[in-house]
Amino acid sequence: MAVTIEKVSGDTELREVAALAGIIWHECFTDIISSGQIDYMVGKFQSYEAMIKQLTEQHYSYFAVRENEELCGYIGVKPENDDRFFLSKLYLRSDKRGRGIASLMLEKVFSEAKQCGKKKVYLTVNKHNDRAIAVYKKTGFVITDEVVTDIGSGYVMDDYILEYKL
Ligand SMILES: CC(C)(COP(=O)(O)OP(=O)(O)OC[C@H]1O[C@@H](n2cnc3c(N)ncnc32)[C@H](O)[C@@H]1OP(=O)(O)O)[C@@H](O)C(=O)NCCC(=O)NCCS
Repeated sequence: MAVTIEKVSGDTELREVAALAGIIWHECFTDIISSGQIDYMVGKFQSYEAMIKQLTEQHYSYFAVRENEELCGYIGVKPENDDRFFLSKLYLRSDKRGRGIASLMLEKVFSEAKQCGKKKVYLTVNKHNDRAIAVYKKTGFVITDEVVTDIGSGYVMDDYILEYKL
């Protein structure tokens, strides 16, 4: 297994990540939220246009996860103005799950957060996303709060907030 996790660079790679995001979101959220909400959220948060905005205006970074050079996952992160590092996106294609790649992805997140001088990593996760919650808890994240976020068009995100102390 030759896994690489490197910062997304250039337009072509960002478009590749956006295409993968569409595939993964439609697969993994089907049992959790409606297909209308998935389409809406992919457009709002994970389209190429949305991600360009996050990169250029909101201090996000995206990382491409490749196994044997094939793109199979991605990470999105953002340093906050305080001592926290926001893990915004952690996504791996279904055929690559359960093989240790998630741990490498989370190690990468922690090392990026430390490089930024941060003390904590936090994230939001849908309350019904059992697998992701189990993975985060196994890694040492703890639930610190919950939040319902109105994302427009009648949709809400019903999330736990989890935190990991570095
Ligand atoms: C979240 C995600 C990246 C995790 O990747 P994964 O390949 O499923 O994770 P793994 O199976 O490698 O599990 C990671 C660790 O958690 C453990 N784990 C997984 N499920 C577990 C469970 N139900 N209970 C306890 N531990 C569990 C694994 O044993 C593993 O630990 P190890 O590396 O020490 O063996 C992946 O499931 C994914 O992309 N899901 C869809 C997208 C998503 O929901 N992203 C998160 C949005 S917030």
